[in-house]
Amino acid sequence: MMATQACRVGVKSGVSGLRAQPRSNFDYKLRYRVQMNSLFHLSKSLEIPIDIAFTGVDLGKKGVDFTVAVPRFRLKAKLPELIEKVTSTFSPNHHLERVVGDSPFLHFYVRTSTLTRLVLDKAYASSGNSANNSGDTYGTNKQGIGKKVIVEFSSPNIAKPFHAGHLRSTIIGTVISNIYEANGWQVIRMNYLGDWGKQFGLLAVGFERYGSEEALTENAIMHLYEVYVKVNRDAATEKENGKREVTNELAREVFRKMEAGDEPTLAIWRRFRDLSIRKYTKVYARLNVRFDIYAGESLVSSAQIKAAMDILQTKGLLSTKTSKESDNNWKEKRAAMAAGVCDTQDEDSEEPSAGNDLALAVDLNQWKLGKPVVRKPDGTTIYIMRDIAGAYQRYEEYKFDKMIYVVGDQQDLHVAQFFKIISLMDAPFANTLEHVNFGRVNGMSTRKGDVKFLDEILDMAKEPCSHRCNKTEKLQQIKDPESTADQIGMTCVKIQDMQAKRVHAYNFDPQRMTSFEGDTGAYLQYAHARLCSVERKATPAVVLPPSSSDIDIALLAEPKAREIIILLGTYPDVVRAALKTYEPSNIVSFCFKLSHVISSAGNHLL
Ligand code: ARG
Repeated sequence: MMATQACRVGVKSGVSGLRAQPRSNFDYKLRYRVQMNSLFHLSKSLEIPIDIAFTGVDLGKKGVDFTVAVPRFRLKAKLPELIEKVTSTFSPNHHLERVVGDSPFLHFYVRTSTLTRLVLDKAYASSGNSANNSGDTYGTNKQGIGKKVIVEFSSPNIAKPFHAGHLRSTIIGTVISNIYEANGWQVIRMNYLGDWGKQFGLLAVGFERYGSEEALTENAIMHLYEVYVKVNRDAATEKENGKREVTNELAREVFRKMEAGDEPTLAIWRRFRDLSIRKYTKVYARLNVRFDIYAGESLVSSAQIKAAMDILQTKGLLSTKTSKESDNNWKEKRAAMAAGVCDTQDEDSEEPSAGNDLALAVDLNQWKLGKPVVRKPDGTTIYIMRDIAGAYQRYEEYKFDKMIYVVGDQQDLHVAQFFKIISLMDAPFANTLEHVNFGRVNGMSTRKGDVKFLDEILDMAKEPCSHRCNKTEKLQQIKDPESTADQIGMTCVKIQDMQAKRVHAYNFDPQRMTSFEGDTGAYLQYAHARLCSVERKATPAVVLPPSSSDIDIALLAEPKAREIIILLGTYPDVVRAALKTYEPSNIVSFCFKLSHVISSAGNHLL
């Protein structure tokens, strides 16, 4: 588990940082054709190799299609001379209309009719009602065909609050899964529940005392949390009053039975887990999120943990850690948690038992990753070991080509540690693991206190939307105001989260995020609804011809139409680029740009 050092050093794992964006953001086949034309011309007129010319072409700004910064080629001749060479030898062709010198730049303009034809053909081939339907959705590609990725995300802990970190992981993980799918990969969406540890012993004891069958079936997540709070209070009171800690003793005993595979005890725990999953599935659906697999810490088999321990042993990676060392670790960890700089699992933050027993650890100090304990003195399993063995187990089961962990930056050290250990173990999949991290969300609380359930978060976003639906007569005509407000609310939650770069923290602000002014989820829903209404109200009705070649391209000559076409042309490349950056914000800003361009075209043309 994570040591406090993690919080201080803020170790970043390999892939979590930003990656360079490809320079030219344009559908790559389209770009290829058009760019090749500009490249051939550049290469010929400036007498440079084609690959050098390639490095100089960028997507243009403000109405320019492609721009070349001539100094980038570091040629001996003077700039005006070079620019003159390119412009004077240019003759318009099927792909390029003109080139303009604007020292130190050269601007290339794509022939509108060709561009429109190419983009429409491609978009048309993806639309449901065309004869030349390729079956692919516009923007998708097949580069990942035959490859499998596991995306592990959300991963809340049963009987504990669904905190902001889980919310972000849910949202980002879903987008990353969709991006992989759009790039042709087979995606396994996995939820790795925190469903094991001493706290489940405590929960079972609590359920005996305070549980209600009815409440459990009604809303397992909420009920188990309430029970957990009560039983924790019992344990704390016993401790404060210096009494015998009966509650904790019982809990330890139940957990020991669970680890030993005692069937009646496991049956109770299984019911808690199953009912929680049932409820979670419903709430995730509100957010339009689904999982292929509900894995969990509990499902990492003890045989797998033993096998992983054996590898550590054979590779000579294990060393001992005295109770004193562990004790110091624990104290530091507690201090960091209190300061709110470190997130951790209860079980591992538990005070170590007194005695001379030794814990087993892996010394990663030479990589500045501390010395994480992998086995407690009493032999019980531990968070990090479940992650190590769990990765092996998943590899054996799914033979993934890549596995992504979408986990907040508070667990950067933990992830870096278990990735390092896996690579020291020479696991065949070690290089395929990636950590996609993200910053915190602040201010996720209501008047009643901190938010504890995903439902509450969604209700918080829905409220201002419902309020607005009831306000004006026009909005009162909405057929199902409740579900409409819910849909808009969830879009707002998602868009707010995806707008900024992943690494940035942000403030959760229901009022601002649901506003119809500015770039919000509500605005995107509005832009979409408006387009639907254009289609609905058009007289005569919009009927697309069976083939894109039947569309009269001459009718799309307005600059506003061209703006939409050129932007649509960039979309397939946005999808490719997102696979490299793992930035949902790239997709979201494309959506906003497109909505703005369409809205401005609507104002001009409708
Ligand atoms: N359940 C954990 C928590 O809430 C997150 C799990 C992250 N994934 C992992 N493989 N460790 O802190």
